[in-house]
Amino acid sequence: AQRGAAMILQGANVVLGVTGGIAAYKAIDLCSKLVQAGAGVDVIMTEAATHFLTPLPFQTLSKRPVSIDQFQLLRDMDMAHIELSKKADVLVIAPATANTIAKLAHGLADNLLTSTALACTAPLVLAPAMDADMWAHPATQENVAHLTERGATIVGPEEGRLASGRMGRGRLAETNAVLGAIRQVLGRNGPLAGQRVLVTAGGTEEPLDPVRYISNRSSGKMGYALAEASRDAGALVTLVSAPTSLPAPFGVDIVHVRTASEMAQAVLGALQRTDVLIMSAAVADYRPAETAPQKIKKMPGDLTLTLTRTMDILAAVAERRQAGQAGLRLVVGFAAETQNVLANARDKLERKRLDMIVANDVSASASGFEVDTNQATLLTMSGQEALPLLAKTELAEVIVQRVAAMLGGA
Ligand code: CTP
Repeated sequence: AQRGAAMILQGANVVLGVTGGIAAYKAIDLCSKLVQAGAGVDVIMTEAATHFLTPLPFQTLSKRPVSIDQFQLLRDMDMAHIELSKKADVLVIAPATANTIAKLAHGLADNLLTSTALACTAPLVLAPAMDADMWAHPATQENVAHLTERGATIVGPEEGRLASGRMGRGRLAETNAVLGAIRQVLGRNGPLAGQRVLVTAGGTEEPLDPVRYISNRSSGKMGYALAEASRDAGALVTLVSAPTSLPAPFGVDIVHVRTASEMAQAVLGALQRTDVLIMSAAVADYRPAETAPQKIKKMPGDLTLTLTRTMDILAAVAERRQAGQAGLRLVVGFAAETQNVLANARDKLERKRLDMIVANDVSASASGFEVDTNQATLLTMSGQEALPLLAKTELAEVIVQRVAAMLGGA
């Protein structure tokens, strides 16, 4: 698999159904990303899908034959539709038209894709794409509700410009969201199944006035990757996010905050419902003592700002934990340092009474802020583990594995 690709997809058997909608071309990208991540992909196209594109791109990317017509397939003895349904770890239909959704809801099996779906006991992921009125129609809504009740995962559709030129809900979900849904269902019995994980991400913004703020260089990538890795391990994830430019991960409860104080409120308010807290956010240690209600106008001479301390969220968590007010099982902190990395991190681990701290040297060019990689050392009370330079997504997976191991041993 390509570096940084989600581990959960590696070696997974994905059956990708493509139905006849204008968004069918986007399934090529999905197929490509799945293959890049190391999944084996068998594509089934409905006859209608072949009016929008040919099987060639899927066959080229998946390096496997594309199945279309049921009867043609039955002549080919080594690829009966039952075989595809049995080998699937997940059946994904993207795009899923209103027509295919209706057939699935009623158990129809009139083509290879719907027969495979009926014979398939693996989880079903549907990415609907259609005109907004077709999506909003009570028939479609009822069909989707039926399928959801039966355990299907629905991703999208999203709002935006539709093929008709109108705006509305009906666009196929972004490839990353569909991948997120696939990862979630593949991982639902993972090592963190049933655990409630709270992850914080991004750098808080502390306003000076309505147009200016003090912040830091955190991109949120590490925290978002941790939220996704926790979800892939089966956890129920809440992501408390400071402003970032990242899209909300699929299947994660996201709480948007801006300031350190808002983040503190969100985290402390959720403690009773949290088993594992991972504080990867870069929380401001200081905020402007006053926020001007109007834009500060420039004046001759210097401007002096007075900064005041924010609440140390992890310290507050440690206090509550000690007072027996939090049901937390595990707390992970981060230490972004520019010197004496390990000594400073171990000091923080002890001072903030953490179970684990992820230490990284943010002055190194391939580590820390804004980049996609990180070189970290994991410290616990009983030892430390220096990790090689990893993609943030890979580091997130390692951290989640260690968290699961610590919980298992606890
Ligand atoms: N953190 C927090 N609340 C704050 C500031 C930081 O909970 N107000 C958390 C961060 O999310 C991170 C850890 O504390 O997990 C380390 O943050 P850092 O600011 O580097 O640690 P400090 O203890 O403030 O140490 P120093 O400022 O001396 O480096």
